[in-house]
Amino acid sequence: MNNFEFCNPVKVVFGKGSIARLSSLIPASSSVLLIYGKGSIKTNGVYNQVKEALKDYQVREFSGIEANPHYETCMQAVELAKREKVDFLLAAGGGSVIDATKFIAAAVYFEGDPWNILSRGDTIRRTMPIGVVLTLAATGSETNERAVISRVSEGRKLNFASPLVFPRFAVMDPEVTYSLPACQVANGVVDSFIHVIEQYLTYPVNAKVQDAFAESLMCVIRTEGLKALNQPLDYDIRANLMWAAANALNGWIGQGVPQDWSSHRIGYVLTAQFGLAHAETLAVILPGVMQYMQNEKQEKILRLGAVVFGITGGGTEERVEKTITAVELFFRTMGLKTRLHEYGIKETDLDALTRPVDQSGWKLSEKGHIDAKAAREILSLRL
Ligand code: NZQ
Ligand code: ZN
Repeated sequence: MNNFEFCNPVKVVFGKGSIARLSSLIPASSSVLLIYGKGSIKTNGVYNQVKEALKDYQVREFSGIEANPHYETCMQAVELAKREKVDFLLAAGGGSVIDATKFIAAAVYFEGDPWNILSRGDTIRRTMPIGVVLTLAATGSETNERAVISRVSEGRKLNFASPLVFPRFAVMDPEVTYSLPACQVANGVVDSFIHVIEQYLTYPVNAKVQDAFAESLMCVIRTEGLKALNQPLDYDIRANLMWAAANALNGWIGQGVPQDWSSHRIGYVLTAQFGLAHAETLAVILPGVMQYMQNEKQEKILRLGAVVFGITGGGTEERVEKTITAVELFFRTMGLKTRLHEYGIKETDLDALTRPVDQSGWKLSEKGHIDAKAAREILSLRL
């Protein structure tokens, strides 16, 4: 196992009715900016619960954060936060609202052009404190220090990370996810499953805790994810999915192990250029990464097949192939498409799709083997 240093400072308040705890989590004198998306919190009761919990606070609001949040919209919130002199940001939503809030928290005090946080990875020195009311189990953004933002005018989707954007707290009430459409539940299941994969499916470094933890998470996400489609109002299923998704990307399983975020990075381009939802991009790309990297990842693919999908019989090549097929079948059973042509994307689109990988000079995968040329080959496996 590799050396590591790690601290996750996010306080989690989990369970039914936990939104009522907000007033014990935000300092009493705070001037709060409540940030949310296109309005689902108004129809599912989350907005009313938040307002009731914060009735003794001064609360301003910024709504309209898009799925795959836009830099341009975040900058409008930055202006509002400065103008109204707020000092605490409360995100109520899924990964998009939380990520936008992290960027706003960093941009509000940033000296210079905040775009440089994303485009050049400029260091963040100060942020406004953030709290989260989670409404969608998927990204793990509620308990991590990462965010992904899109700049529409440039057709780019970029990420940043800083320990200064860890939320102070994450309120996680599984009941608020009952209102999600089935496709968003499925997207969350596939995204969180692939977060585990990106930190697991590399090569063994004898990290027994991380491997066993990752495998448990994948088993839970797969079985409960399939159940959630048929039993959408089952509290225990929602609770297990919500906690699994947080643990999939709160940092713990990734400590001291090699990681490969190729599917995510290539996926950002598919979202930026073709508008696919985040999980939709991953369901298409991951089987291609597994196929392209099957020799480098062989030991872990075999272990994944045996532990998570029960594939034990046959020779090595056969088991590898069966495991890749089982992963793709899982995504399809969740209702996601797994081929580019199903989104109308053709061979002639591949150059444009891999150009950003080339321009950014990304060397992806656990060993830096995946450059623009390799990314093109992976995408061509998925046509
Ligand atoms: O606009 P609102 O009203 O919020 O509606 C949202 C949106 O339309 C809706 N929704 C959320 N909770 C709901 C609900 N509808 C009904 N009932 C509820 N309880 O669902 C739609 C999708 O929401 P979104 O926040 O976009 O989904 P998700 O949580 O999957 O977030 C995706 C974003 O997170 C980024 C992705 O790239 C993408 O931009 N990621 C962030 C990561 C991180 N910070 O660590 C890691 C991930 O890999 C990912 O890249
Ligand atoms: Zn993801």
